[in-house]
Amino acid sequence: MAKLVALIASLCFLSFLGAVYCKIEVRGEVYCDTCRVLFPTTVSTPAKNAEVLLECRDRENENNRTLSQSTTDIDGNGRYAIEVDGDHEDEICEVRLVQSLDTECNQIIPGLDRARVLISDNSGIASNVRYANPLGFIKAVPLPECAEVLIKTYGLLPTAHI
Ligand SMILES: *[C@@H]1O[C@H](CO)[C@@H](O)[C@H](O)[C@H]1NC(C)=O
Repeated sequence: MAKLVALIASLCFLSFLGAVYCKIEVRGEVYCDTCRVLFPTTVSTPAKNAEVLLECRDRENENNRTLSQSTTDIDGNGRYAIEVDGDHEDEICEVRLVQSLDTECNQIIPGLDRARVLISDNSGIASNVRYANPLGFIKAVPLPECAEVLIKTYGLLPTAHI
């Protein structure tokens, strides 16, 4: 609880008119899909040296870009946070992978490279933090243990078994 209060306090300010004004923080995670299966597995690793972009566009006119903020500040667990000013309720916002400097894991595949996020104070969500779905870069060569991991964890069998 104390942690939550501290978090909200750090995102909220008293305006000169006496109203409380809060920023919204978008949080998410970037991983390396080490098995090339397009979802996180037990052998996925946190992405490192990556860049993520948060972008909003007007709902009516997609050429009208209303917000564009990127971060390369991704921690050891692949987590990032982007603080946003203002309300973007009537806009379409998404986080998207820009690039990875990890040459072993830098492929970008549509679907895993972006996630929608709602950035509004009036969304009925009490917290100032919005979580985006995880984004993933694809490893060029899958790890040798992937077949075993997939069978054990997910019951997936090679396609030959029909
Ligand atoms: C761009 O979008 C914003 C947010 O929806 C809107 O307030 C603004 O009027 C738009 N500008 C133009 C030039 O369409």
